[in-house]
Amino acid sequence: MKSVYMQYNFDKIIDRRGSGAIMTDLLQERYGRDDLLALWVADMYFETPAPIRAAIEHRLAHQIYGYSVPAASYWASIINWERELHGWKFRREEMTFIPGIVRGIAYVLQCFTQPGDKVVVQPPVYMPFLNLPRNNGRQVVYNPLAWDAAAGTYRMDLANLEEVCRKESPKVLILSNPHNPAGIVWPKEDLAAVADICQRHGVLVISDEIHADMALEGAVHHPFQTVSAAAAEVSIAFAAPSKTFNIAGLVSSFCVVPNPRIREPFFHYLEANEFDGPLFLSVIATEAAFTQCGEWRRQMLAYVKGNVDFVCDYLREKVPGIVPVRPQASFLIWLDCTQLGLDHDALIDLFVNRARLAFNDGVAFGPGGEGHMRMNVGAPRALVAEAMQRLEQAVKSLK
Ligand SMILES: Cc1ncc(COP(=O)(O)O)c(C=O)c1O
Repeated sequence: MKSVYMQYNFDKIIDRRGSGAIMTDLLQERYGRDDLLALWVADMYFETPAPIRAAIEHRLAHQIYGYSVPAASYWASIINWERELHGWKFRREEMTFIPGIVRGIAYVLQCFTQPGDKVVVQPPVYMPFLNLPRNNGRQVVYNPLAWDAAAGTYRMDLANLEEVCRKESPKVLILSNPHNPAGIVWPKEDLAAVADICQRHGVLVISDEIHADMALEGAVHHPFQTVSAAAAEVSIAFAAPSKTFNIAGLVSSFCVVPNPRIREPFFHYLEANEFDGPLFLSVIATEAAFTQCGEWRRQMLAYVKGNVDFVCDYLREKVPGIVPVRPQASFLIWLDCTQLGLDHDALIDLFVNRARLAFNDGVAFGPGGEGHMRMNVGAPRALVAEAMQRLEQAVKSLK
């Protein structure tokens, strides 16, 4: 019997230059030169899965692109996906569409905080967590992640979080779950402890779960709202198919708010400003992703895990001055370059001008990011290997 099993080709190299991709088309502006191997922005070089492209093409074949309403099957596809993949159960009334998670976080800040209010973040962390509060006149307070040398990764400093909440009386904590840039899948007990601390101090938790569907081999992601009754009570969770299925440009995400005392004012704010109207191609792409692309996701994650192994082995053997934090989730690798002993300008010069690589500058991720770079390995192995060779040569040229 003919097998219907498909092997996807993640080795295929697709030239993104000239497609308007931030990854390739903003190099000159951001790095001052455009001859770089670009592995920075957090989207992947893999083809968006065929069922998503087919669903969009089918809709585009209709001659009119007018105002649209999502089918009931769109909401059901999200509810089923989260229940089956993560055991996260919620009802249709508890969720709504959000046009991008970064915007969603800004909406929460605008709805629940006033200028001058404090917002806790745990750096090094995804840069908009620092910028959104500041851009809105709120104050950022830090609960820095603690480096756990034995584990080779970071953990949350729960004792200090309690202290920060007690002393600073923040209104909101923004959590990256899993964590960007270090790819950490947080232990369930730590998430439950965060919920208890925030409940005690009246802090609203925003749990950003955009990387949730990309736990790598063996790691288990815990949606924040599943870890305890307190967590469900104090939080707004955001999730999306955009990272996993490489459709970030379509802008599709959703939020889940079980507690009616948070949900009612937030959903009222969104509706009153018409921020929650689903975009028609996002809806179509999301439903296709969550109903037809499960096998693509499994194979993509196996491929990414191979890239992670490749980079970790390569650096250990050939560039020991750069130490990767092995991610438990997603396609980003946080590189500790402090042993090279370079100051900030020299480190950027090493990557950009000597290695001709566009990675993310760790400084953008806040305190603790100095001396670090973030690499994207959601790319064909040949590009990842090329990046490693360039880095090895560049580091050798320092001596
Ligand atoms: C933790 C995190 N949140 C949000 C985003 C972006 O979300 P969106 O494109 O839906 O605004 C990213 C993208 O890198 C991310 O890493």
